[in-house]
Amino acid sequence: MPSPPPPNHIAIIMDGNGRWAKRQGLMRLLGHRAGVKTVRRIVEDCQRLGVGVLTLYAFSTENWNRPKEEVSGLMDLLKNFLRSELERMLKNGVRLQAIGQLQNLPTEVYEVLQETISKTAHCQGMVLNLALSYGGRSELLQAMQAISTKCVTGSIRPEDITEAMVDEHLYTAGLPEPDLLIRTGGEARLSNFLLWQSSYAEIFFTDTAWPDFNLKDLTGAISDYHGRQRRFGRTGEQVADDATTADVTVESTQ
Ligand code: IPE
Ligand code: IPE
Ligand code: MG
Repeated sequence: MPSPPPPNHIAIIMDGNGRWAKRQGLMRLLGHRAGVKTVRRIVEDCQRLGVGVLTLYAFSTENWNRPKEEVSGLMDLLKNFLRSELERMLKNGVRLQAIGQLQNLPTEVYEVLQETISKTAHCQGMVLNLALSYGGRSELLQAMQAISTKCVTGSIRPEDITEAMVDEHLYTAGLPEPDLLIRTGGEARLSNFLLWQSSYAEIFFTDTAWPDFNLKDLTGAISDYHGRQRRFGRTGEQVADDATTADVTVESTQ
């Protein structure tokens, strides 16, 4: 039997770099450096598996509160990652996008980010979506501000506000919602990640630290996902009946 297609949108909270380094008596920044290597591998793995969108939580709005050496070390790693990856992204048809308060990034990082986004804009393969200076609450807040401004200026009425309209005002406008959300590093929380968009994501927590996360872990998370029944509020029987009907429909149209 052919294996089922991978989830269309995988979102990953890449956690555990610091503890991974500490366990080996290394500085936290060396954990982040090892984490970048994992990013390179996992991006290629996802692209080979046929994932449509891969969102990586790389830096949160709360992460600005870390020691300033760690923040600047992370920004340097980000800048170098973007510079070194451009060629590979073009070769593999990966289109870069970013979500978050991008204007708060250091100028050099912001510029190389925008440059990479525009140079890969024509790519037709996987979308690599980096969450940088990203916070789900601030994303929702700016959407509320934009929508309420439209109400005040009279272009829409409050009762015209729809879920689709909220979607359009988020940083993720135009992207599908995550199907599978993975968090490495042993914590079981969302840490302000994709709060609106993950309302029906399947969540997979693993103790594996991000630097150790590999293809086997990824395919393990994907097969766990395939073993779940996505019910969206309905009963298991309804979903199973629908799947049978869909199978019959597909067979009869072949
Ligand atoms: C995740 O690893 C990377 C970022 C948040 C930038 P951490 O740095 O949070 O690693 P731990 O949680 O301290 O192990
Ligand atoms: C979440 O990890 C943010 C990223 C992975 C970028 P954190 O390590 O910052 O999360 P908390 O603070 O432990 O919740
Ligand atoms: Mg952490």
